[in-house]
Amino acid sequence: MARCSKGVTVFILWVLLMLSWCEASRISVSRYDHSYKNSFIKRRDDITGLKSFVRASLRTPTTVSVSDFGAKGDGITDDTQAFVNAWKKACSSSGAVNLLVTKENTYLLKSIQLTGPCKSILTVQIFGTLSASQKRSDYKDISKWITFDNVNDLSVEGGATGAVDGNGETWWENSCKRNKAKPCTKAPTALTFYNSKNLRVNNLRVRNAQQIQISIEKCSNVQVSNVVVTAPADSPNTDGIHITNTQNIRVSNSIIGTGDDCISIESGSQNVQINDITCGPGHGISIGSLGDDNSKAFVSGVTVDGAKLSGTDNGVRIKTYQGGSGTASNIVFQNIQMDNVKNPIIIDQEYCDKSKCTSQKSAVQVKNVVYRNISGTSASDMAITFNCSKNYPCQGIVLDKVNIKGGKATCSNANVVDKGAVLPQCNST
Ligand SMILES: *[C@@H]1O[C@H](CO)[C@@H](O)[C@H](O)[C@H]1NC(C)=O
Ligand SMILES: *[C@@H]1O[C@H](CO)[C@@H](O)[C@H](O)[C@H]1NC(C)=O
Repeated sequence: MARCSKGVTVFILWVLLMLSWCEASRISVSRYDHSYKNSFIKRRDDITGLKSFVRASLRTPTTVSVSDFGAKGDGITDDTQAFVNAWKKACSSSGAVNLLVTKENTYLLKSIQLTGPCKSILTVQIFGTLSASQKRSDYKDISKWITFDNVNDLSVEGGATGAVDGNGETWWENSCKRNKAKPCTKAPTALTFYNSKNLRVNNLRVRNAQQIQISIEKCSNVQVSNVVVTAPADSPNTDGIHITNTQNIRVSNSIIGTGDDCISIESGSQNVQINDITCGPGHGISIGSLGDDNSKAFVSGVTVDGAKLSGTDNGVRIKTYQGGSGTASNIVFQNIQMDNVKNPIIIDQEYCDKSKCTSQKSAVQVKNVVYRNISGTSASDMAITFNCSKNYPCQGIVLDKVNIKGGKATCSNANVVDKGAVLPQCNST
Protein backbone atom coordinates (compact mmCIF):
# COMPACT_ATOMS: atom_id res chain seq x y z
CA MET A 1 0.00 0.00 0.00
CA ALA A 2 2.75 2.45 1.03
CA ARG A 3 4.79 1.51 -2.04
CA CYS A 4 1.78 1.91 -4.27
CA SER A 5 0.95 5.39 -2.99
CA LYS A 6 4.59 6.43 -3.41
CA GLY A 7 4.44 5.25 -7.03
CA VAL A 8 1.28 7.30 -7.53
CA THR A 9 2.93 10.37 -5.98
CA VAL A 10 5.93 10.08 -8.27
CA PHE A 11 3.61 9.71 -11.27
CA ILE A 12 1.54 12.76 -10.30
CA LEU A 13 4.71 14.83 -9.80
CA TRP A 14 5.95 13.68 -13.20
CA VAL A 15 2.69 14.80 -14.83
CA LEU A 16 2.92 18.13 -12.96
CA LEU A 17 6.49 18.57 -14.15
CA MET A 18 5.44 17.97 -17.77
CA LEU A 19 2.47 20.33 -17.48
CA SER A 20 4.65 23.04 -15.92
CA TRP A 21 7.21 22.55 -18.66
CA CYS A 22 4.54 23.13 -21.34
CA GLU A 23 3.24 26.13 -19.40
CA ALA A 24 6.77 27.51 -19.02
CA SER A 25 7.36 27.14 -22.78
CA ARG A 26 4.09 28.86 -23.56
CA ILE A 27 4.71 31.76 -21.17
CA SER A 28 8.26 32.17 -22.37
CA VAL A 29 7.19 32.42 -25.99
CA SER A 30 4.33 34.85 -25.43
CA ARG A 31 5.78 37.01 -22.68
CA TYR A 32 9.41 37.20 -23.69
CA ASP A 33 9.02 37.77 -27.38
CA HIS A 34 11.66 40.50 -27.14
CA SER A 35 14.41 38.01 -26.95
CA TYR A 36 14.26 34.40 -27.87
CA LYS A 37 17.66 33.71 -26.38
CA ASN A 38 16.58 34.86 -22.97
CA SER A 39 13.32 32.97 -23.02
CA PHE A 40 15.35 29.87 -23.70
CA ILE A 41 17.61 30.52 -20.73
CA LYS A 42 14.54 31.10 -18.60
CA ARG A 43 12.91 27.86 -19.65
CA ARG A 44 16.02 25.82 -18.92
CA ASP A 45 16.37 27.37 -15.48
CA ASP A 46 12.66 26.84 -14.81
CA ILE A 47 13.13 23.14 -15.38
CA THR A 48 16.19 22.99 -13.16
CA GLY A 49 14.16 24.79 -10.49
CA LEU A 50 11.24 22.45 -10.89
CA LYS A 51 13.41 19.35 -10.69
CA SER A 52 14.86 20.37 -7.37
CA PHE A 53 11.38 21.35 -6.24
CA VAL A 54 10.03 17.92 -7.17
CA ARG A 55 13.02 16.22 -5.57
CA ALA A 56 12.48 18.11 -2.33
CA SER A 57 8.71 17.63 -2.21
CA LEU A 58 9.08 13.83 -2.22
CA ARG A 59 9.79 14.27 1.46
CA THR A 60 7.79 16.22 3.94
CA PRO A 61 9.78 19.28 4.94
CA THR A 62 11.67 19.36 8.19
CA THR A 63 10.95 22.43 10.28
CA VAL A 64 13.75 24.33 11.96
CA SER A 65 12.35 27.01 14.27
CA VAL A 66 14.37 30.01 15.41
CA SER A 67 12.78 29.50 18.85
CA ASP A 68 14.61 26.17 19.16
CA PHE A 69 17.86 28.10 18.85
CA GLY A 70 17.06 30.49 21.65
CA ALA A 71 15.38 33.35 19.81
CA LYS A 72 13.19 35.21 22.32
CA GLY A 73 10.95 37.17 20.00
CA ASP A 74 10.20 39.79 22.65
CA GLY A 75 11.34 42.73 20.52
CA ILE A 76 13.99 43.68 23.10
CA THR A 77 16.46 40.80 23.22
CA ASP A 78 18.96 40.65 20.38
CA ASP A 79 18.03 37.49 18.47
CA THR A 80 20.72 37.76 15.78
CA GLN A 81 22.89 34.86 16.99
CA ALA A 82 19.86 32.56 17.36
CA PHE A 83 18.92 33.32 13.74
CA VAL A 84 22.49 32.66 12.55
CA ASN A 85 22.52 29.29 14.35
CA ALA A 86 19.08 28.31 13.05
CA TRP A 87 20.17 29.29 9.54
CA LYS A 88 23.30 27.09 9.79
CA LYS A 89 21.14 24.12 10.75
CA ALA A 90 18.47 24.78 8.10
CA CYS A 91 21.00 25.43 5.34
CA SER A 92 23.12 22.34 6.02
CA SER A 93 20.26 19.84 6.37
CA SER A 94 19.24 17.81 3.35
CA GLY A 95 15.84 17.79 1.64
CA ALA A 96 13.11 20.36 2.07
CA VAL A 97 13.47 22.55 5.13
CA ASN A 98 11.21 25.25 6.54
CA LEU A 99 13.02 27.82 8.60
CA LEU A 100 10.24 29.07 10.83
CA VAL A 101 9.93 32.52 12.37
CA THR A 102 6.92 32.14 14.63
CA LYS A 103 3.99 34.49 14.33
CA GLU A 104 2.92 37.01 16.96
CA ASN A 105 6.54 37.50 17.99
CA THR A 106 8.91 40.35 17.18
CA TYR A 107 12.56 39.49 16.68
CA LEU A 108 15.13 42.23 17.12
CA LEU A 109 18.01 41.81 14.69
CA LYS A 110 21.35 43.48 14.05
CA SER A 111 22.74 43.27 10.52
CA ILE A 112 22.66 39.62 9.48
CA GLN A 113 24.01 37.73 6.50
CA LEU A 114 22.37 34.41 5.63
CA THR A 115 24.77 32.75 3.25
CA GLY A 116 24.63 29.69 0.99
CA PRO A 117 25.13 27.53 -0.90
CA CYS A 118 22.68 25.41 1.07
CA LYS A 119 22.29 21.67 0.94
CA SER A 120 18.56 22.00 1.57
CA ILE A 121 15.71 23.41 -0.48
CA LEU A 122 14.80 26.19 1.87
CA THR A 123 11.58 28.01 2.65
CA VAL A 124 11.98 30.81 5.13
CA GLN A 125 8.62 31.25 6.79
CA ILE A 126 8.55 34.73 8.21
CA PHE A 127 5.25 34.62 10.08
CA GLY A 128 6.34 36.97 12.87
CA THR A 129 7.98 40.40 12.62
CA LEU A 130 11.66 41.02 12.05
CA SER A 131 12.58 44.34 13.63
CA ALA A 132 15.78 46.24 12.85
CA SER A 133 18.21 47.55 15.42
CA GLN A 134 18.43 51.34 15.26
CA LYS A 135 22.05 51.47 16.41
CA ARG A 136 24.56 52.29 13.69
CA SER A 137 27.21 50.18 15.48
CA ASP A 138 24.99 47.08 15.07
CA TYR A 139 25.65 47.11 11.33
CA LYS A 140 28.86 45.44 10.14
CA ASP A 141 28.22 46.74 6.64
CA ILE A 142 26.29 49.98 6.88
CA SER A 143 24.60 49.36 3.54
CA LYS A 144 22.78 46.16 4.51
CA TRP A 145 20.49 44.86 7.23
CA ILE A 146 19.22 41.36 6.22
CA THR A 147 21.06 39.72 3.32
CA PHE A 148 20.46 36.37 1.63
CA ASP A 149 23.63 35.64 -0.30
CA ASN A 150 24.19 32.82 -2.79
CA VAL A 151 21.12 30.74 -1.88
CA ASN A 152 19.57 28.92 -4.86
CA ASP A 153 15.96 27.62 -4.80
CA LEU A 154 15.03 29.86 -1.89
CA SER A 155 11.45 30.75 -1.00
CA VAL A 156 10.54 33.44 1.45
CA GLU A 157 6.94 33.19 2.55
CA GLY A 158 5.25 35.70 4.82
CA GLY A 159 1.83 34.01 5.18
CA ALA A 160 -0.95 36.21 6.52
CA THR A 161 1.15 37.96 9.14
CA GLY A 162 4.87 38.14 8.33
CA ALA A 163 6.61 41.52 8.30
CA VAL A 164 10.05 43.02 7.99
CA ASP A 165 10.33 46.38 9.75
CA GLY A 166 13.42 48.56 9.21
CA ASN A 167 12.45 51.10 11.91
CA GLY A 168 13.87 53.70 9.54
CA GLU A 169 12.81 56.91 11.35
CA THR A 170 16.19 57.54 13.04
CA TRP A 171 18.03 56.96 9.75
CA TRP A 172 15.70 59.30 7.86
CA GLU A 173 16.16 62.05 10.46
CA ASN A 174 19.90 61.80 9.99
CA SER A 175 19.73 61.84 6.20
CA CYS A 176 21.15 64.83 4.35
CA LYS A 177 18.04 64.79 2.19
CA ARG A 178 15.91 65.63 5.22
CA ASN A 179 18.41 67.72 7.11
CA LYS A 180 20.87 69.67 4.97
CA ALA A 181 23.20 70.13 7.96
CA LYS A 182 23.83 66.37 8.20
CA PRO A 183 26.49 64.64 6.11
CA CYS A 184 25.27 62.36 3.31
CA THR A 185 25.96 58.81 4.46
CA LYS A 186 24.66 55.42 3.50
CA ALA A 187 21.86 53.67 5.31
CA PRO A 188 21.04 49.96 5.21
CA THR A 189 18.85 48.22 2.64
CA ALA A 190 16.29 46.26 4.66
CA LEU A 191 16.19 43.07 2.61
CA THR A 192 18.84 42.11 0.04
CA PHE A 193 18.83 39.03 -2.18
CA TYR A 194 22.21 38.60 -3.78
CA ASN A 195 23.61 36.15 -6.31
CA SER A 196 20.76 33.62 -6.13
CA LYS A 197 18.85 31.55 -8.69
CA ASN A 198 15.22 30.43 -8.47
CA LEU A 199 14.04 32.81 -5.82
CA ARG A 200 10.47 33.34 -4.65
CA VAL A 201 9.24 36.02 -2.30
CA ASN A 202 5.56 35.82 -1.51
CA ASN A 203 3.01 37.38 0.88
CA LEU A 204 5.47 39.54 2.72
CA ARG A 205 5.05 42.97 4.27
CA VAL A 206 8.14 45.15 4.29
CA ARG A 207 7.98 48.56 5.93
CA ASN A 208 9.96 51.60 6.97
CA ALA A 209 13.29 50.45 5.61
CA GLN A 210 16.34 52.44 6.65
CA GLN A 211 16.89 53.07 2.93
CA ILE A 212 16.01 50.68 0.03
CA GLN A 213 13.26 48.28 1.13
CA ILE A 214 13.87 45.18 -1.04
CA SER A 215 16.89 44.86 -3.31
CA ILE A 216 17.37 42.04 -5.80
CA GLU A 217 20.91 41.99 -7.09
CA LYS A 218 22.65 39.60 -9.46
CA CYS A 219 19.82 37.03 -9.33
CA SER A 220 17.98 35.03 -11.98
CA ASN A 221 14.54 33.41 -12.18
CA VAL A 222 12.84 35.45 -9.54
CA GLN A 223 9.17 35.72 -8.62
CA VAL A 224 8.00 38.38 -6.23
CA SER A 225 4.27 38.35 -5.59
CA ASN A 226 1.72 39.65 -3.14
CA VAL A 227 4.12 41.87 -1.26
CA VAL A 228 3.09 45.07 0.47
CA VAL A 229 5.85 47.63 0.83
CA THR A 230 5.23 50.81 2.81
CA ALA A 231 6.99 53.89 4.16
CA PRO A 232 6.02 57.57 4.44
CA ALA A 233 6.16 59.74 1.29
CA ASP A 234 8.96 61.84 2.83
CA SER A 235 11.26 58.96 3.81
CA PRO A 236 14.46 59.50 1.79
CA ASN A 237 15.69 56.95 -0.79
CA THR A 238 13.32 54.21 0.32
CA ASP A 239 12.94 52.55 -3.09
CA GLY A 240 10.31 49.82 -2.80
CA ILE A 241 11.74 47.06 -4.98
CA HIS A 242 15.14 47.67 -6.50
CA ILE A 243 16.25 45.35 -9.31
CA THR A 244 19.82 45.33 -10.55
CA ASN A 245 21.91 42.91 -12.63
CA THR A 246 19.02 40.46 -12.57
CA GLN A 247 17.55 38.34 -15.37
CA ASN A 248 14.08 36.78 -15.68
CA ILE A 249 12.20 38.41 -12.89
CA ARG A 250 8.50 38.87 -12.39
CA VAL A 251 6.99 41.17 -9.80
CA SER A 252 3.21 40.86 -9.56
CA ASN A 253 0.13 41.68 -7.50
CA SER A 254 1.93 43.99 -5.15
CA ILE A 255 1.16 47.24 -3.38
CA ILE A 256 3.93 49.77 -2.88
CA GLY A 257 3.74 53.17 -1.21
CA THR A 258 7.07 54.68 -0.30
CA GLY A 259 9.39 57.72 -0.33
CA ASP A 260 11.26 56.97 -3.57
CA ASP A 261 10.68 54.80 -6.65
CA CYS A 262 8.04 52.09 -6.14
CA ILE A 263 10.12 49.90 -8.44
CA SER A 264 13.54 50.81 -9.82
CA ILE A 265 15.23 48.81 -12.53
CA GLU A 266 18.96 49.30 -12.89
CA SER A 267 21.75 48.28 -15.20
CA GLY A 268 22.30 44.62 -16.08
CA SER A 269 18.60 43.74 -15.85
CA GLN A 270 16.91 41.73 -18.61
CA ASN A 271 13.47 40.18 -19.00
CA VAL A 272 11.76 42.10 -16.27
CA GLN A 273 7.97 41.61 -15.99
CA ILE A 274 5.99 43.90 -13.77
CA ASN A 275 2.28 43.05 -13.47
CA ASP A 276 -0.58 44.44 -11.43
CA ILE A 277 1.16 46.95 -9.24
CA THR A 278 -0.45 49.62 -7.13
CA CYS A 279 1.98 52.48 -6.54
CA GLY A 280 1.66 55.61 -4.41
CA PRO A 281 2.90 57.59 -2.73
CA GLY A 282 6.31 57.38 -4.36
CA HIS A 283 8.34 58.35 -7.38
CA GLY A 284 6.71 55.84 -9.74
CA ILE A 285 8.14 52.97 -11.75
CA SER A 286 11.62 53.83 -13.00
CA ILE A 287 14.23 52.42 -15.29
CA GLY A 288 17.48 53.99 -14.11
CA SER A 289 19.24 56.07 -13.22
CA LEU A 290 21.56 54.67 -15.87
CA GLY A 291 25.01 55.80 -16.89
CA ASP A 292 26.12 57.67 -13.79
CA ASP A 293 29.81 58.56 -13.57
CA ASN A 294 30.24 57.85 -17.28
CA SER A 295 29.35 54.19 -16.83
CA LYS A 296 28.13 51.74 -19.47
CA ALA A 297 24.59 50.50 -18.79
CA PHE A 298 22.36 47.87 -20.37
CA VAL A 299 18.71 47.22 -19.66
CA SER A 300 16.46 45.31 -22.06
CA GLY A 301 13.15 43.52 -22.20
CA VAL A 302 11.15 45.34 -19.55
CA THR A 303 7.36 45.05 -19.57
CA VAL A 304 5.14 46.89 -17.15
CA ASP A 305 1.66 45.51 -17.79
CA GLY A 306 -1.08 46.54 -15.40
CA ALA A 307 -0.38 49.29 -12.91
CA LYS A 308 -2.29 51.92 -11.00
CA LEU A 309 -0.34 54.94 -9.85
CA SER A 310 -1.87 57.56 -7.57
CA GLY A 311 -0.36 60.84 -6.42
CA THR A 312 3.15 59.87 -7.42
CA ASP A 313 5.95 62.20 -8.61
CA ASN A 314 6.39 60.21 -11.81
CA GLY A 315 4.39 57.57 -13.57
CA VAL A 316 6.62 55.52 -15.84
CA ARG A 317 10.10 56.96 -16.14
CA ILE A 318 13.35 56.23 -17.91
CA LYS A 319 16.24 58.32 -16.58
CA THR A 320 19.82 58.41 -17.71
CA TYR A 321 22.75 60.65 -16.82
CA GLN A 322 24.68 62.56 -19.41
CA GLY A 323 28.05 61.02 -20.18
CA GLY A 324 26.99 57.38 -19.89
CA SER A 325 26.88 54.79 -22.66
CA GLY A 326 25.07 51.53 -23.48
CA THR A 327 21.35 51.04 -24.15
CA ALA A 328 17.93 50.84 -22.58
CA SER A 329 15.80 49.00 -25.13
CA ASN A 330 12.69 46.93 -25.81
CA ILE A 331 10.51 48.41 -23.14
CA VAL A 332 6.72 48.22 -22.96
CA PHE A 333 4.49 50.18 -20.59
CA GLN A 334 0.86 49.16 -20.99
CA ASN A 335 -2.56 49.07 -19.36
CA ILE A 336 -1.70 51.72 -16.84
CA GLN A 337 -3.97 54.06 -14.92
CA MET A 338 -2.53 57.27 -13.46
CA ASP A 339 -4.34 59.54 -11.05
CA ASN A 340 -2.87 62.91 -10.20
CA VAL A 341 0.68 62.03 -11.23
CA LYS A 342 3.21 64.85 -11.70
CA ASN A 343 5.15 63.42 -14.66
CA PRO A 344 2.98 60.59 -15.99
CA ILE A 345 5.22 59.64 -18.93
CA ILE A 346 8.83 60.75 -18.88
CA ILE A 347 12.13 59.94 -20.51
CA ASP A 348 14.86 62.12 -19.11
CA GLN A 349 18.28 61.74 -20.67
CA GLU A 350 19.50 64.83 -18.86
CA TYR A 351 18.88 63.43 -15.40
CA CYS A 352 20.85 65.14 -12.66
CA ASP A 353 20.50 64.69 -8.92
CA LYS A 354 23.66 66.56 -8.05
CA SER A 355 23.89 70.30 -7.53
CA LYS A 356 25.58 70.73 -10.89
CA CYS A 357 25.86 68.41 -13.89
CA THR A 358 28.03 69.57 -16.75
CA SER A 359 26.76 69.00 -20.24
CA GLN A 360 28.33 65.94 -21.89
CA LYS A 361 28.05 64.50 -25.38
CA SER A 362 27.62 60.78 -24.82
CA ALA A 363 24.44 59.18 -23.45
CA VAL A 364 22.77 55.84 -22.82
CA GLN A 365 20.80 55.11 -26.01
CA VAL A 366 17.06 54.74 -25.39
CA LYS A 367 15.24 52.77 -28.08
CA ASN A 368 12.06 50.81 -28.81
CA VAL A 369 9.76 52.01 -26.07
CA VAL A 370 6.02 51.41 -26.37
CA TYR A 371 3.38 53.21 -24.29
CA ARG A 372 0.03 51.51 -24.84
CA ASN A 373 -3.36 52.07 -23.22
CA ILE A 374 -2.28 54.59 -20.63
CA SER A 375 -4.86 56.95 -19.21
CA GLY A 376 -5.40 59.28 -16.31
CA THR A 377 -4.65 62.75 -15.03
CA SER A 378 -1.54 64.85 -14.56
CA ALA A 379 -0.93 66.82 -11.38
CA SER A 380 1.33 69.28 -13.22
CA ASP A 381 1.25 71.03 -16.59
CA MET A 382 3.24 68.10 -18.02
CA ALA A 383 1.73 64.86 -19.23
CA ILE A 384 4.44 63.56 -21.56
CA THR A 385 8.10 64.59 -21.40
CA PHE A 386 10.70 63.20 -23.75
CA ASN A 387 13.85 65.11 -22.90
CA CYS A 388 16.33 63.17 -24.99
CA SER A 389 19.96 63.69 -25.84
CA LYS A 390 20.94 65.73 -28.88
CA ASN A 391 23.66 63.29 -29.89
CA TYR A 392 21.73 60.11 -29.03
CA PRO A 393 18.07 60.90 -29.75
CA CYS A 394 15.46 58.48 -28.40
CA GLN A 395 14.52 56.02 -31.17
CA GLY A 396 11.41 53.98 -31.84
CA ILE A 397 9.10 55.59 -29.33
CA VAL A 398 5.49 54.50 -29.88
CA LEU A 399 2.45 56.07 -28.24
CA ASP A 400 -0.65 53.92 -28.70
CA LYS A 401 -3.96 54.85 -27.05
CA VAL A 402 -2.64 57.34 -24.56
CA ASN A 403 -5.01 59.76 -22.89
CA ILE A 404 -3.70 61.92 -20.09
CA LYS A 405 -5.74 64.91 -19.05
CA GLY A 406 -4.44 68.15 -17.64
CA GLY A 407 -0.96 68.50 -19.10
CA LYS A 408 0.95 69.03 -22.30
CA ALA A 409 3.62 67.05 -24.14
CA THR A 410 7.16 68.25 -24.76
CA CYS A 411 9.31 66.09 -26.91
CA SER A 412 12.87 67.00 -27.81
CA ASN A 413 15.28 64.82 -29.75
CA ALA A 414 12.77 61.97 -29.80
CA ASN A 415 11.56 59.90 -32.73
CA VAL A 416 7.89 59.43 -31.77
CA VAL A 417 5.17 57.58 -33.67
CA ASP A 418 1.54 57.97 -32.62
CA LYS A 419 -0.74 54.97 -33.04
CA GLY A 420 -4.37 54.89 -31.97
CA ALA A 421 -5.63 58.02 -30.27
CA VAL A 422 -2.98 60.00 -28.40
CA LEU A 423 -3.60 62.94 -26.10
CA PRO A 424 -1.68 65.21 -25.64
CA GLN A 425 0.48 65.02 -28.74
CA CYS A 426 4.09 66.14 -29.10
CA ASN A 427 4.23 69.58 -30.65
CA SER A 428 7.85 69.26 -31.63
CA THR A 429 9.92 66.23 -32.52
C1 LIG B 1 -6.55 49.45 -20.60
O1 LIG B 1 -5.99 49.56 -19.31
C2 LIG B 1 -6.91 49.47 -18.25
C3 LIG B 1 -6.14 49.66 -16.96
O2 LIG B 1 -5.67 50.96 -16.86
C4 LIG B 1 -7.61 48.12 -18.28
O3 LIG B 1 -8.59 48.07 -17.27
C5 LIG B 1 -8.26 47.91 -19.65
O4 LIG B 1 -8.79 46.61 -19.71
C6 LIG B 1 -7.23 48.09 -20.74
N1 LIG B 1 -7.87 48.01 -22.05
C7 LIG B 1 -7.50 47.11 -22.94
C8 LIG B 1 -8.24 47.19 -24.25
O5 LIG B 1 -6.66 46.26 -22.73
C1 LIG C 1 15.41 68.99 -20.25
O1 LIG C 1 16.72 68.96 -19.74
C2 LIG C 1 17.35 70.23 -19.67
C3 LIG C 1 18.78 70.02 -19.21
O2 LIG C 1 18.82 69.45 -17.93
C4 LIG C 1 16.57 71.12 -18.73
O3 LIG C 1 17.17 72.39 -18.68
C5 LIG C 1 15.14 71.21 -19.20
O4 LIG C 1 14.37 71.92 -18.27
C6 LIG C 1 14.51 69.84 -19.39
N1 LIG C 1 13.23 69.98 -20.01
C7 LIG C 1 12.14 69.40 -19.51
C8 LIG C 1 10.90 69.64 -20.28
O5 LIG C 1 12.15 68.70 -18.50
